[in-house]
Amino acid sequence: MKPVKVGLMGLGTVGGGTFRVLLKNAREIARRAGREIQITQAAARDYDPETVPGIENIEVLNDAFALVDNPELDIIIELIGGYSPARELVLKAIENGKHVVTANKALIALHGNEIFAAAQKKGVTVAFEAAVAGGIPIIKAVREGLAANQIEWLAGIINGTGNFILSEMRDKGRDFEDVLAEAQALGYAEADPTFDVEGIDAAHKLTILASLAFGIPLQFEKTYTEGISKIEQQDVIYAGELGYRIKHLGIARKTPKGVELRVHPTLIPERRLIANVDGVMNAVLVKGDAVGPTLYYGAGAGAEPTASAVIADVVDVTRALTTDPENRVPHLAFQPDELSDLPVLGMEDVVTAYYLRMNAADQPGVLAQVTGILGDAGISIEAMQQREPAAGETSVSLIMLTHSVQEKQMNAAIQKIETLDSINGEVTRIRMEQLDG
Ligand code: HSE
Repeated sequence: MKPVKVGLMGLGTVGGGTFRVLLKNAREIARRAGREIQITQAAARDYDPETVPGIENIEVLNDAFALVDNPELDIIIELIGGYSPARELVLKAIENGKHVVTANKALIALHGNEIFAAAQKKGVTVAFEAAVAGGIPIIKAVREGLAANQIEWLAGIINGTGNFILSEMRDKGRDFEDVLAEAQALGYAEADPTFDVEGIDAAHKLTILASLAFGIPLQFEKTYTEGISKIEQQDVIYAGELGYRIKHLGIARKTPKGVELRVHPTLIPERRLIANVDGVMNAVLVKGDAVGPTLYYGAGAGAEPTASAVIADVVDVTRALTTDPENRVPHLAFQPDELSDLPVLGMEDVVTAYYLRMNAADQPGVLAQVTGILGDAGISIEAMQQREPAAGETSVSLIMLTHSVQEKQMNAAIQKIETLDSINGEVTRIRMEQLDG
């Protein structure tokens, strides 16, 4: 059989990794795909040829639009990243009847609905395994492996940089800024590291996972996003003393009223496997009604782990080249005309438990005032700790874990607590999930 001809856009970290792995494992990959896969042309502006040995044997264009117009190419791999010109290039490739493989989570989360509609019209595939959790085949697992299930919820550590920061803060007592600088030097952080620490990168990935899990259109703009930049060392310590770890989680849950879609720091019991996923590693816990909880773990970033997912998609697309478009796996797991209009819930409607920390005057009756406000709001306290005042101090830290409550109620209670004369400053609130099966 004739080799399949592939055009590669982008020769940065992932592009270079993809080129290297395809060359290194060419024979093994061809045995799986049923034919040889050849990158015959690439497009890149800035790249270091030393990191892509063998690239001198193919043509590298300056203009990526010329690449997507090349009639010889069957599949285009988009590893440029960002929204534009990636969107225009992918749409042009589709218009030209080419299949597309991309690692671009931002592109899929924001423009996926438009891109998939165009691909469906043209009868081509847009594959995006590498867009979520790097080398972990989580898209394949949710879209195909769990196809028998009603997926109830999923929760993931889907940003390696953020997880590295939180792990180092807990294990080594290091400061936020110091660890972030190291993650940037290691090449894990996004070009704009606020995407990592403010949860935008995780929200892109969660948007995609939720659509696959529940069969809803991609709705990045409705995903609640809160970062880790305000997490303090003392909260990491208190959480540990109470048997919890703080992780930056993306959580999607289907409820009778709608879908919860939220990225925020979260206390989770330290005995859960996912609580022990440290450093730059990623993990996604998925709860299906038939299978129960399943956990997927691995490298969520990096050149060759991400290349592993990109090439798996190229193999999938190659195998499906001769399949009728309507018999291919749908982009969002469900048939396009079967997507549901289940609403995405606002954060005030989300139901979750909380860790609260407040600085209280060390005087009689303060605890009663605080618990009174929580009790009046119907919020039940699960555990509580009061720290002794430091030498010379007249205030103490009060730490409380609550049972689940609607966020709206918790917001109102926190507002009242903050108006108490005996409470100094703001109440720190971190959401808490048990993640039990
Ligand atoms: N910046 C991302 C991370 C890279 O740290 O996980 C992979 O998407």
